[in-house]
Amino acid sequence: MLKIKKIVELRKILESYRLNKNIIGLVPTMGAFHAGHLSLINRARRDCDQVVVSLFVNPAQFSPGEDYNKYPREFESDIQKAKAAGVDLLFAPNEDELYPRKLLTHIEVADITDCLCGKTRPGHFQGVALVVAKLFNIIQPDKAYFGEKDWQQLKVVERMVYDLNFPVEIVPLPVVRDKDGLALSSRNQYLNQVEKRQALVISEALKMAADKIKSGQRYAVKITGLVEEMIAKTDGVELEYFSIRQPENLTEVKVIKRKVLLAIAVRLGKIRLIDNILVEVSDNVSDYAKEQNPSGNNYRG
Ligand code: PAJ
Repeated sequence: MLKIKKIVELRKILESYRLNKNIIGLVPTMGAFHAGHLSLINRARRDCDQVVVSLFVNPAQFSPGEDYNKYPREFESDIQKAKAAGVDLLFAPNEDELYPRKLLTHIEVADITDCLCGKTRPGHFQGVALVVAKLFNIIQPDKAYFGEKDWQQLKVVERMVYDLNFPVEIVPLPVVRDKDGLALSSRNQYLNQVEKRQALVISEALKMAADKIKSGQRYAVKITGLVEEMIAKTDGVELEYFSIRQPENLTEVKVIKRKVLLAIAVRLGKIRLIDNILVEVSDNVSDYAKEQNPSGNNYRG
């Protein structure tokens, strides 16, 4: 595995890959690899001739007061994990390499960044879009791999690629969880044993909400109320948001009629964790249907 810090050096190697008509896959990361990252790398390994992983804790996506300085940095063990996963090239630039001067150019994907995490992390998605756009221009991958764990980020990247005609295919991959259901995150390592147990309420709340939908509840406000209650009962966990959204444009859903995204963000002390699931609505009997059409005939969910 090659370890590269400089863009000029990287470009030379990528040029040779391209001359050989190699399909190049990129997995952008901030390091502290866990099985979520590895699922993206493994998929890239299957799809592509050359797998490039970028490892850069991007200051532009952290607001002042967030955990940029404390963000886990595990370069040596990341190198071992990347090697073992069959990564061809690890691009780990220093801050000066990606941000040599104050940037005067910004990328803002509007509307879908106003809600959910965009509300409490102003500027976060501009920082993500900026670094991902830079990585796409530097590496020019054929495919790039993103986790559905960060659903809103995935939608921001997809939209930026569409709007700005980046010649890259975005490949989304499902959330990887531990055996108890907790979505893997580099930030989980901040959790002590008690907090780890408390954090299970995140995926349990999503599951409870999904079950309510599956058993016919169609009113978002009712489900939101139940989730709020469940989180309020859990010591140490503070709900930042729970929201039911249209999965593609992230608009709020009031009455559930088709596939929805259930998205949640909580805080455990200073640690902020997010999770989400998609719920398909395939039944044709629901509380909503019964209210709209008490005879129960001809309702299509
Ligand atoms: P990072 O948090 O390191 O995540 C890198 C990639 O791994 C992202 O696409 C993320 O969605 C995915 N990922 C993280 N946890 C996952 C899990 N449990 N299951 C599946 N995929 C998971 O996301 C970032 O870095 C940065 O914002 C980045 C895109 C690199 C831009 O700086």
